[in-house]
Amino acid sequence: MSLLTRRRLLRRAALSATAAGAVRTGLVGATAAGIAASATALGGCDSSPERRTDQESDAGLRFPPDFGWGAATSAYQIEGAAKEDGRGESVWDTFSHTPGRTRNGDTGDVAADHYHRYAEDLDLMRELGLRSYRFSIAWPRIQADGSGRPNQRGLDFYRRLVDGLHERGIAPMATLFHWDLPQALQDDGGWENRDTAERFADYADVVFRALGDQVPVWLTINEPKTVVQNGYIWGHHAPGHQDEAAAYLVAHHLQLGHGLAVQALRASGVSGRIGPALNLHPCYPADDTAEAATATRLYDGYENRLYLDSIFKGAYPQDVLADLGPDSRMVRAVRDGDLKIISSPVDLLAVQYYTPIYVTGGGSTVQKLPTTEAEWQQIYPEGMYDVLTRVTRDYGPVPITVTENGLPCPDVPGPDGTIDDAGRVSFLRDHFAAAHRAIRDGVPLKSYHVWSLLDNFEWDQGFEQRWGLVYVDYRSQRRVFKRSAHWYRDVIHRNGL
Ligand code: FCB
Repeated sequence: MSLLTRRRLLRRAALSATAAGAVRTGLVGATAAGIAASATALGGCDSSPERRTDQESDAGLRFPPDFGWGAATSAYQIEGAAKEDGRGESVWDTFSHTPGRTRNGDTGDVAADHYHRYAEDLDLMRELGLRSYRFSIAWPRIQADGSGRPNQRGLDFYRRLVDGLHERGIAPMATLFHWDLPQALQDDGGWENRDTAERFADYADVVFRALGDQVPVWLTINEPKTVVQNGYIWGHHAPGHQDEAAAYLVAHHLQLGHGLAVQALRASGVSGRIGPALNLHPCYPADDTAEAATATRLYDGYENRLYLDSIFKGAYPQDVLADLGPDSRMVRAVRDGDLKIISSPVDLLAVQYYTPIYVTGGGSTVQKLPTTEAEWQQIYPEGMYDVLTRVTRDYGPVPITVTENGLPCPDVPGPDGTIDDAGRVSFLRDHFAAAHRAIRDGVPLKSYHVWSLLDNFEWDQGFEQRWGLVYVDYRSQRRVFKRSAHWYRDVIHRNGL
Protein backbone atom coordinates (compact mmCIF):
# COMPACT_ATOMS: atom_id res chain seq x y z
CA MET A 1 0.00 0.00 0.00
CA SER A 2 1.49 3.33 -1.01
CA LEU A 3 1.96 6.12 1.41
CA LEU A 4 -0.64 7.97 -0.58
CA THR A 5 -3.40 5.58 0.28
CA ARG A 6 -2.49 5.59 3.95
CA ARG A 7 -2.09 9.27 4.43
CA ARG A 8 -4.93 11.58 5.30
CA LEU A 9 -5.15 14.30 2.74
CA LEU A 10 -6.09 17.66 4.01
CA ARG A 11 -9.81 17.34 4.27
CA ARG A 12 -11.24 20.70 3.58
CA ALA A 13 -14.49 21.99 4.89
CA ALA A 14 -16.01 18.58 5.40
CA LEU A 15 -19.65 18.49 6.39
CA SER A 16 -18.61 16.90 9.63
CA ALA A 17 -16.80 20.10 10.56
CA THR A 18 -16.46 20.51 14.28
CA ALA A 19 -17.48 23.64 16.12
CA ALA A 20 -15.51 26.82 15.69
CA GLY A 21 -12.05 26.58 17.10
CA ALA A 22 -12.39 22.93 18.05
CA VAL A 23 -9.11 21.15 18.42
CA ARG A 24 -9.15 17.72 16.84
CA THR A 25 -5.83 16.10 17.52
CA GLY A 26 -3.44 17.07 20.31
CA LEU A 27 -2.61 20.73 20.20
CA VAL A 28 1.13 20.61 20.59
CA GLY A 29 1.81 23.55 22.80
CA ALA A 30 5.57 23.75 22.44
CA THR A 31 5.72 24.34 18.70
CA ALA A 32 2.54 26.25 18.75
CA ALA A 33 3.28 28.58 21.60
CA GLY A 34 4.71 31.54 19.72
CA ILE A 35 2.35 31.06 16.87
CA ALA A 36 -0.73 30.64 18.97
CA ALA A 37 0.07 34.02 20.44
CA SER A 38 -0.58 35.52 17.05
CA ALA A 39 -3.93 33.80 16.73
CA THR A 40 -6.73 35.09 18.83
CA ALA A 41 -8.95 32.69 20.72
CA LEU A 42 -12.17 31.35 19.22
CA GLY A 43 -10.57 30.47 15.95
CA GLY A 44 -9.04 33.88 15.48
CA CYS A 45 -12.42 35.55 15.40
CA ASP A 46 -13.10 36.98 18.82
CA SER A 47 -13.38 40.70 19.27
CA SER A 48 -10.99 41.05 22.16
CA PRO A 49 -8.59 43.99 21.92
CA GLU A 50 -5.96 43.40 19.29
CA ARG A 51 -2.47 42.45 20.25
CA ARG A 52 -0.45 45.48 21.07
CA THR A 53 3.00 44.05 20.41
CA ASP A 54 2.53 43.06 16.77
CA GLN A 55 0.43 46.08 16.10
CA GLU A 56 3.30 48.25 17.22
CA SER A 57 6.02 46.37 15.40
CA ASP A 58 4.04 46.15 12.17
CA ALA A 59 2.92 49.75 12.23
CA GLY A 60 4.61 51.79 9.56
CA LEU A 61 5.23 48.91 7.15
CA ARG A 62 4.92 50.33 3.65
CA PHE A 63 4.36 48.23 0.53
CA PRO A 64 5.94 48.96 -2.86
CA PRO A 65 4.34 51.80 -4.83
CA ASP A 66 1.53 50.52 -7.07
CA PHE A 67 1.03 47.44 -4.91
CA GLY A 68 -2.18 45.79 -6.10
CA TRP A 69 -4.42 45.66 -3.05
CA GLY A 70 -7.41 43.58 -4.00
CA ALA A 71 -10.23 41.26 -3.07
CA ALA A 72 -11.46 38.05 -4.67
CA THR A 73 -14.71 36.24 -5.41
CA SER A 74 -15.88 33.45 -7.69
CA ALA A 75 -18.88 33.17 -9.97
CA TYR A 76 -20.90 30.36 -8.42
CA GLN A 77 -20.29 31.67 -4.91
CA ILE A 78 -21.78 35.12 -5.49
CA GLU A 79 -23.66 35.50 -8.77
CA GLY A 80 -26.96 33.68 -8.31
CA ALA A 81 -29.19 34.07 -11.41
CA ALA A 82 -28.58 30.40 -12.02
CA LYS A 83 -31.13 30.08 -14.78
CA GLU A 84 -30.93 33.49 -16.37
CA ASP A 85 -29.78 34.75 -19.73
CA GLY A 86 -28.99 31.35 -21.14
CA ARG A 87 -26.78 30.01 -18.37
CA GLY A 88 -26.46 26.23 -18.46
CA GLU A 89 -26.10 23.92 -15.49
CA SER A 90 -22.81 23.27 -13.82
CA VAL A 91 -21.63 20.42 -11.62
CA TRP A 92 -22.17 22.69 -8.64
CA ASP A 93 -25.86 23.17 -9.51
CA THR A 94 -26.24 19.41 -9.62
CA PHE A 95 -24.23 18.84 -6.48
CA SER A 96 -25.86 21.52 -4.34
CA HIS A 97 -29.32 20.36 -5.38
CA THR A 98 -28.55 16.79 -4.33
CA PRO A 99 -29.99 16.24 -0.83
CA GLY A 100 -27.37 15.98 1.89
CA ARG A 101 -24.50 17.44 -0.09
CA THR A 102 -24.42 20.96 1.36
CA ARG A 103 -25.06 22.34 4.80
CA ASN A 104 -28.75 23.19 5.19
CA GLY A 105 -29.26 22.22 1.56
CA ASP A 106 -27.91 25.61 0.50
CA THR A 107 -27.37 26.26 -3.21
CA GLY A 108 -25.90 29.04 -5.33
CA ASP A 109 -29.24 29.72 -7.04
CA VAL A 110 -29.38 33.22 -5.58
CA ALA A 111 -26.20 33.49 -3.47
CA ALA A 112 -25.28 37.17 -3.06
CA ASP A 113 -27.33 38.05 -6.15
CA HIS A 114 -24.26 39.70 -7.62
CA TYR A 115 -25.47 39.09 -11.19
CA HIS A 116 -28.17 41.69 -10.56
CA ARG A 117 -26.32 43.81 -8.01
CA TYR A 118 -22.92 44.01 -9.66
CA ALA A 119 -23.13 47.80 -10.05
CA GLU A 120 -23.71 48.23 -6.32
CA ASP A 121 -20.85 45.83 -5.65
CA LEU A 122 -18.58 47.79 -7.95
CA ASP A 123 -19.37 50.88 -5.91
CA LEU A 124 -18.45 49.00 -2.73
CA MET A 125 -15.12 48.13 -4.31
CA ARG A 126 -14.51 51.75 -5.14
CA GLU A 127 -15.41 52.73 -1.58
CA LEU A 128 -12.89 50.18 -0.31
CA GLY A 129 -10.29 51.69 -2.59
CA LEU A 130 -9.50 48.37 -4.31
CA ARG A 131 -6.86 48.51 -6.99
CA SER A 132 -7.50 45.00 -8.26
CA TYR A 133 -10.54 42.72 -8.31
CA ARG A 134 -10.26 39.03 -8.93
CA PHE A 135 -13.45 37.34 -10.10
CA SER A 136 -14.24 34.24 -12.13
CA ILE A 137 -16.14 33.71 -15.33
CA ALA A 138 -18.84 31.04 -15.25
CA TRP A 139 -18.16 28.68 -18.13
CA PRO A 140 -21.86 27.63 -18.30
CA ARG A 141 -22.84 31.27 -18.87
CA ILE A 142 -20.57 31.39 -21.91
CA GLN A 143 -21.27 27.90 -23.27
CA ALA A 144 -24.32 26.33 -21.63
CA ASP A 145 -23.21 22.82 -22.58
CA GLY A 146 -19.49 23.45 -22.45
CA SER A 147 -18.84 23.77 -26.17
CA GLY A 148 -19.99 25.42 -29.34
CA ARG A 149 -21.36 28.87 -30.06
CA PRO A 150 -20.92 31.32 -27.21
CA ASN A 151 -23.87 32.85 -25.42
CA GLN A 152 -23.63 36.58 -26.06
CA ARG A 153 -25.72 37.49 -23.00
CA GLY A 154 -23.22 35.73 -20.77
CA LEU A 155 -20.30 37.52 -22.37
CA ASP A 156 -22.17 40.83 -22.08
CA PHE A 157 -22.47 40.43 -18.32
CA TYR A 158 -18.72 40.12 -17.90
CA ARG A 159 -18.16 42.96 -20.35
CA ARG A 160 -20.36 45.20 -18.19
CA LEU A 161 -18.47 44.09 -15.08
CA VAL A 162 -15.06 44.70 -16.63
CA ASP A 163 -16.11 48.09 -18.01
CA GLY A 164 -17.46 49.02 -14.57
CA LEU A 165 -14.13 48.12 -12.99
CA HIS A 166 -12.20 50.29 -15.44
CA GLU A 167 -14.61 53.17 -14.87
CA ARG A 168 -13.72 52.97 -11.19
CA GLY A 169 -9.98 52.61 -11.72
CA ILE A 170 -9.86 48.98 -10.58
CA ALA A 171 -7.81 46.43 -12.53
CA PRO A 172 -9.76 43.28 -13.50
CA MET A 173 -8.18 39.87 -12.88
CA ALA A 174 -10.28 37.09 -14.38
CA THR A 175 -10.18 33.40 -13.48
CA LEU A 176 -11.38 31.19 -16.31
CA PHE A 177 -12.42 28.23 -14.20
CA HIS A 178 -13.43 28.26 -10.56
CA TRP A 179 -14.95 24.75 -10.40
CA ASP A 180 -18.28 25.31 -12.19
CA LEU A 181 -17.80 22.77 -14.97
CA PRO A 182 -20.77 22.59 -17.36
CA GLN A 183 -22.79 19.54 -16.35
CA ALA A 184 -22.96 18.38 -19.97
CA LEU A 185 -19.19 17.94 -19.95
CA GLN A 186 -19.38 16.08 -16.66
CA ASP A 187 -21.88 13.75 -18.27
CA ASP A 188 -19.17 12.97 -20.83
CA GLY A 189 -16.64 12.12 -18.11
CA GLY A 190 -15.71 15.59 -16.88
CA TRP A 191 -12.02 16.05 -16.14
CA GLU A 192 -11.48 12.30 -16.35
CA ASN A 193 -11.99 12.79 -20.07
CA ARG A 194 -8.98 14.30 -21.84
CA ASP A 195 -11.33 16.05 -24.22
CA THR A 196 -12.47 18.37 -21.39
CA ALA A 197 -9.02 19.97 -21.44
CA GLU A 198 -9.49 20.72 -25.15
CA ARG A 199 -12.99 22.08 -24.55
CA PHE A 200 -11.58 24.30 -21.81
CA ALA A 201 -9.04 25.77 -24.23
CA ASP A 202 -11.80 26.47 -26.77
CA TYR A 203 -13.87 28.21 -24.12
CA ALA A 204 -10.83 30.20 -23.01
CA ASP A 205 -10.25 31.28 -26.58
CA VAL A 206 -13.83 32.56 -26.84
CA VAL A 207 -13.40 34.57 -23.65
CA PHE A 208 -9.99 35.97 -24.64
CA ARG A 209 -11.37 37.22 -27.93
CA ALA A 210 -14.47 38.74 -26.32
CA LEU A 211 -12.87 40.44 -23.30
CA GLY A 212 -9.14 40.27 -23.88
CA ASP A 213 -8.66 43.91 -24.75
CA GLN A 214 -9.90 44.88 -21.30
CA VAL A 215 -8.50 42.18 -18.99
CA PRO A 216 -4.80 42.60 -18.17
CA VAL A 217 -4.42 39.41 -16.11
CA TRP A 218 -5.92 35.96 -16.61
CA LEU A 219 -5.81 33.00 -14.26
CA THR A 220 -6.44 29.60 -15.77
CA ILE A 221 -7.73 27.04 -13.27
CA ASN A 222 -8.47 27.80 -9.65
CA GLU A 223 -6.88 25.32 -7.25
CA PRO A 224 -6.70 22.16 -9.36
CA LYS A 225 -5.70 20.35 -6.17
CA THR A 226 -9.04 21.09 -4.53
CA VAL A 227 -10.91 19.52 -7.44
CA VAL A 228 -8.61 16.49 -7.17
CA GLN A 229 -8.86 16.05 -3.41
CA ASN A 230 -12.30 17.37 -2.47
CA GLY A 231 -14.07 16.49 -5.71
CA TYR A 232 -12.53 13.09 -6.39
CA ILE A 233 -10.94 11.70 -3.21
CA TRP A 234 -13.14 12.86 -0.36
CA GLY A 235 -16.15 13.61 -2.48
CA HIS A 236 -17.47 16.52 -0.46
CA HIS A 237 -17.18 18.88 -3.43
CA ALA A 238 -18.69 18.45 -6.88
CA PRO A 239 -18.75 16.07 -8.62
CA GLY A 240 -18.70 14.15 -5.34
CA HIS A 241 -16.65 11.12 -6.32
CA GLN A 242 -14.46 9.00 -4.06
CA ASP A 243 -12.05 7.48 -6.53
CA GLU A 244 -8.38 8.08 -5.90
CA ALA A 245 -7.24 6.56 -9.18
CA ALA A 246 -9.53 8.89 -11.11
CA ALA A 247 -8.42 11.82 -8.95
CA TYR A 248 -4.87 11.92 -10.29
CA LEU A 249 -6.03 11.37 -13.83
CA VAL A 250 -8.15 14.46 -13.25
CA ALA A 251 -5.05 16.26 -11.95
CA HIS A 252 -3.25 15.60 -15.21
CA HIS A 253 -6.15 16.79 -17.35
CA LEU A 254 -6.57 19.94 -15.27
CA GLN A 255 -2.88 20.68 -15.73
CA LEU A 256 -3.22 19.98 -19.43
CA GLY A 257 -6.20 22.33 -19.62
CA HIS A 258 -4.11 24.99 -17.94
CA GLY A 259 -1.31 24.62 -20.49
CA LEU A 260 -3.68 24.59 -23.45
CA ALA A 261 -5.35 27.77 -22.19
CA VAL A 262 -1.97 29.50 -21.90
CA GLN A 263 -1.26 28.50 -25.50
CA ALA A 264 -4.70 29.72 -26.56
CA LEU A 265 -4.00 33.16 -25.13
CA ARG A 266 -0.72 33.42 -27.02
CA ALA A 267 -2.36 32.20 -30.23
CA SER A 268 -5.22 34.69 -29.92
CA GLY A 269 -2.87 37.64 -30.16
CA VAL A 270 -4.55 39.17 -27.12
CA SER A 271 -2.04 40.99 -24.96
CA GLY A 272 -2.97 39.94 -21.39
CA ARG A 273 -0.75 38.10 -18.95
CA ILE A 274 -1.65 34.64 -17.71
CA GLY A 275 -0.79 32.15 -14.99
CA PRO A 276 -2.10 29.36 -12.77
CA ALA A 277 -3.88 29.88 -9.41
CA LEU A 278 -2.52 27.30 -6.97
CA ASN A 279 -3.38 26.76 -3.34
CA LEU A 280 -0.05 25.96 -1.77
CA HIS A 281 0.32 24.41 1.65
CA PRO A 282 3.63 24.60 3.45
CA CYS A 283 4.20 21.09 4.85
CA TYR A 284 6.15 20.66 8.09
CA PRO A 285 7.16 17.47 9.93
CA ALA A 286 4.96 16.98 12.98
CA ASP A 287 7.98 15.88 15.04
CA ASP A 288 11.76 15.54 14.82
CA THR A 289 11.92 11.97 13.53
CA ALA A 290 13.51 10.98 10.24
CA GLU A 291 10.24 9.23 9.33
CA ALA A 292 8.29 12.46 9.68
CA ALA A 293 10.84 14.28 7.50
CA THR A 294 10.55 11.64 4.78
CA ALA A 295 6.77 11.55 4.90
CA THR A 296 6.61 15.34 4.79
CA ARG A 297 8.70 15.42 1.63
CA LEU A 298 6.27 13.12 -0.20
CA TYR A 299 3.30 14.96 1.21
CA ASP A 300 4.73 18.16 -0.19
CA GLY A 301 4.96 16.39 -3.54
CA TYR A 302 1.23 15.74 -3.59
CA GLU A 303 0.26 19.12 -2.17
CA ASN A 304 2.60 21.43 -4.03
CA ARG A 305 5.20 20.00 -6.41
CA LEU A 306 2.71 17.98 -8.48
CA TYR A 307 1.33 21.31 -9.71
CA LEU A 308 4.37 23.58 -9.47
CA ASP A 309 6.96 21.24 -11.02
CA SER A 310 4.78 20.34 -13.97
CA ILE A 311 4.18 24.00 -14.80
CA PHE A 312 7.58 25.47 -13.97
CA LYS A 313 9.91 22.53 -14.58
CA GLY A 314 8.05 20.56 -17.23
CA ALA A 315 8.09 17.33 -15.21
CA TYR A 316 5.95 15.70 -12.57
CA PRO A 317 7.90 15.03 -9.37
CA GLN A 318 9.58 11.63 -9.47
CA ASP A 319 8.69 10.71 -5.91
CA VAL A 320 4.98 11.29 -6.56
CA LEU A 321 5.09 9.34 -9.81
CA ALA A 322 6.86 6.47 -8.06
CA ASP A 323 4.30 6.54 -5.26
CA LEU A 324 1.41 6.49 -7.72
CA GLY A 325 3.05 3.62 -9.58
CA PRO A 326 3.56 3.03 -13.29
CA ASP A 327 0.15 1.44 -13.68
CA SER A 328 -1.80 4.31 -12.21
CA ARG A 329 -4.43 5.86 -14.44
CA MET A 330 -2.60 9.15 -14.32
CA VAL A 331 0.82 7.86 -15.28
CA ARG A 332 -0.66 5.87 -18.14
CA ALA A 333 -2.54 8.92 -19.39
CA VAL A 334 0.48 11.19 -19.81
CA ARG A 335 1.32 11.42 -23.52
CA ASP A 336 4.47 12.62 -25.20
CA GLY A 337 4.38 16.38 -25.41
CA ASP A 338 1.87 16.86 -22.56
CA LEU A 339 4.45 18.22 -20.15
CA LYS A 340 5.64 20.62 -22.81
CA ILE A 341 2.10 21.99 -23.09
CA ILE A 342 1.66 22.13 -19.31
CA SER A 343 4.94 24.03 -18.91
CA SER A 344 4.14 26.63 -21.58
CA PRO A 345 5.76 29.77 -20.18
CA VAL A 346 3.49 31.75 -17.87
CA ASP A 347 3.69 35.41 -16.90
CA LEU A 348 2.86 35.07 -13.23
CA LEU A 349 2.01 32.67 -10.44
CA ALA A 350 -1.09 33.21 -8.33
CA VAL A 351 -0.67 31.85 -4.81
CA GLN A 352 -3.55 31.07 -2.46
CA TYR A 353 -2.49 30.48 1.12
CA TYR A 354 -4.74 29.43 3.98
CA THR A 355 -3.07 26.87 6.21
CA PRO A 356 0.04 24.84 6.98
CA ILE A 357 0.03 21.03 7.16
CA TYR A 358 1.88 19.00 9.81
CA VAL A 359 2.81 15.49 8.71
CA THR A 360 3.61 12.51 10.95
CA GLY A 361 6.05 9.70 10.25
CA GLY A 362 3.06 7.54 9.31
CA GLY A 363 2.09 10.01 6.63
CA SER A 364 -1.03 11.36 8.29
CA THR A 365 -1.66 14.93 9.33
CA VAL A 366 -2.12 16.41 12.76
CA GLN A 367 -3.37 19.71 13.93
CA LYS A 368 -0.93 21.72 15.97
CA LEU A 369 -2.42 25.17 15.96
CA PRO A 370 -5.76 26.77 16.65
CA THR A 371 -8.12 26.54 13.73
CA THR A 372 -10.62 29.00 12.42
CA GLU A 373 -14.29 28.18 11.98
CA ALA A 374 -13.08 26.09 9.04
CA GLU A 375 -11.69 23.03 10.76
CA TRP A 376 -9.08 22.49 8.04
CA GLN A 377 -7.55 25.93 8.55
CA GLN A 378 -4.82 26.33 11.18
CA ILE A 379 -3.73 29.88 11.78
CA TYR A 380 -0.09 30.37 10.86
CA PRO A 381 0.85 33.69 9.25
CA GLU A 382 4.49 32.64 8.96
CA GLY A 383 3.31 30.03 6.44
CA MET A 384 2.63 32.90 4.05
CA TYR A 385 6.29 33.91 4.29
CA ASP A 386 7.44 30.31 3.87
CA VAL A 387 5.27 29.69 0.82
CA LEU A 388 6.22 32.90 -0.96
CA THR A 389 9.95 32.59 -0.34
CA ARG A 390 9.88 28.91 -1.25
CA VAL A 391 8.31 29.39 -4.66
CA THR A 392 10.76 32.15 -5.48
CA ARG A 393 13.70 30.04 -4.31
CA ASP A 394 12.62 26.85 -6.07
CA TYR A 395 10.96 28.18 -9.22
CA GLY A 396 12.71 31.45 -9.99
CA PRO A 397 11.64 35.07 -9.89
CA VAL A 398 8.26 34.74 -11.59
CA PRO A 399 5.99 37.63 -10.54
CA ILE A 400 3.59 36.54 -7.83
CA THR A 401 0.12 37.63 -6.89
CA VAL A 402 -1.65 36.39 -3.79
CA THR A 403 -5.13 35.65 -5.07
CA GLU A 404 -6.68 34.32 -1.87
CA ASN A 405 -6.11 34.61 1.86
CA GLY A 406 -8.65 35.09 4.58
CA LEU A 407 -10.72 33.30 7.21
CA PRO A 408 -14.35 32.71 8.18
CA CYS A 409 -15.69 34.42 11.28
CA PRO A 410 -19.07 34.05 12.96
CA ASP A 411 -19.98 37.61 12.02
CA VAL A 412 -23.22 38.89 13.43
CA PRO A 413 -24.34 42.49 13.38
CA GLY A 414 -24.33 44.10 16.83
CA PRO A 415 -27.30 46.04 18.21
CA ASP A 416 -26.14 49.12 16.32
CA GLY A 417 -25.83 47.15 13.08
CA THR A 418 -22.03 47.18 12.96
CA ILE A 419 -20.00 44.01 12.56
CA ASP A 420 -16.93 43.81 14.72
CA ASP A 421 -14.68 41.18 13.15
CA ALA A 422 -11.55 42.15 15.07
CA GLY A 423 -10.20 38.63 14.60
CA ARG A 424 -10.19 39.10 10.84
CA VAL A 425 -8.29 42.37 11.26
CA SER A 426 -5.58 40.64 13.33
CA PHE A 427 -5.42 37.71 10.92
CA LEU A 428 -5.02 39.89 7.87
CA ARG A 429 -2.55 42.21 9.56
CA ASP A 430 -0.32 39.27 10.50
CA HIS A 431 -0.50 37.79 7.00
CA PHE A 432 0.15 41.17 5.34
CA ALA A 433 3.19 41.60 7.59
CA ALA A 434 4.47 38.15 6.60
CA ALA A 435 4.00 39.03 2.92
CA HIS A 436 5.86 42.27 3.52
CA ARG A 437 8.80 40.36 4.98
CA ALA A 438 8.79 38.14 1.90
CA ILE A 439 8.94 41.18 -0.38
CA ARG A 440 11.79 42.59 1.71
CA ASP A 441 13.60 39.27 1.26
CA GLY A 442 13.33 39.44 -2.52
CA VAL A 443 9.96 37.88 -3.44
CA PRO A 444 8.45 39.68 -6.47
CA LEU A 445 4.99 39.91 -4.91
CA LYS A 446 2.90 42.38 -6.90
CA SER A 447 -0.58 42.18 -5.44
CA TYR A 448 -2.69 40.64 -2.69
CA HIS A 449 -6.35 39.70 -2.85
CA VAL A 450 -8.28 39.07 0.33
CA TRP A 451 -10.75 36.22 0.22
CA SER A 452 -13.40 37.45 0.04
CA LEU A 453 -14.99 40.71 -0.98
CA LEU A 454 -18.44 39.50 0.08
CA ASP A 455 -19.87 36.80 2.29
CA ASN A 456 -20.83 34.04 -0.11
CA PHE A 457 -21.77 30.42 -0.79
CA GLU A 458 -18.88 28.51 0.74
CA TRP A 459 -19.37 25.31 -1.26
CA ASP A 460 -20.43 22.35 0.92
CA GLN A 461 -20.55 24.68 3.93
CA GLY A 462 -23.27 26.76 2.29
CA PHE A 463 -23.86 30.19 3.74
CA GLU A 464 -22.92 29.31 7.28
CA GLN A 465 -19.27 30.35 7.01
CA ARG A 466 -18.81 34.06 6.40
CA TRP A 467 -15.55 34.90 4.66
CA GLY A 468 -16.31 38.43 3.45
CA LEU A 469 -14.95 41.85 4.23
CA VAL A 470 -18.48 42.92 3.46
CA TYR A 471 -21.40 41.34 5.30
CA VAL A 472 -24.32 40.12 3.22
CA ASP A 473 -27.78 39.85 4.75
CA TYR A 474 -29.08 37.07 2.52
CA ARG A 475 -32.71 37.91 3.19
CA SER A 476 -32.56 41.52 2.09
CA GLN A 477 -29.27 41.26 0.15
CA ARG A 478 -28.15 44.34 2.03
CA ARG A 479 -24.37 44.77 2.18
CA VAL A 480 -22.61 46.16 5.27
CA PHE A 481 -18.91 46.95 5.64
CA LYS A 482 -17.49 44.90 8.49
CA ARG A 483 -14.86 46.44 10.73
CA SER A 484 -12.23 44.64 8.61
CA ALA A 485 -13.46 46.43 5.49
CA HIS A 486 -13.01 49.82 7.15
CA TRP A 487 -9.58 48.75 8.35
CA TYR A 488 -8.60 47.40 4.91
CA ARG A 489 -9.64 50.67 3.28
CA ASP A 490 -7.17 52.47 5.55
CA VAL A 491 -4.43 49.93 4.77
CA ILE A 492 -4.94 50.53 1.07
CA HIS A 493 -5.02 54.27 1.56
CA ARG A 494 -1.74 54.19 3.53
CA ASN A 495 -0.31 51.48 1.28
CA GLY A 496 0.70 49.64 4.40
CA LEU A 497 0.08 48.85 8.03
C1 FCB B 1 -10.53 28.42 -1.62
C2 FCB B 1 -11.49 28.56 -2.78
C3 FCB B 1 -12.50 29.65 -2.59
C4 FCB B 1 -13.04 29.66 -1.18
C5 FCB B 1 -11.91 29.69 -0.18
C6 FCB B 1 -12.36 29.75 1.25
O1 FCB B 1 -9.99 27.15 -1.61
O2 FCB B 1 -10.78 28.79 -3.96
O3 FCB B 1 -13.51 29.51 -3.53
O4 FCB B 1 -13.85 28.58 -0.98
O5 FCB B 1 -11.10 28.56 -0.36
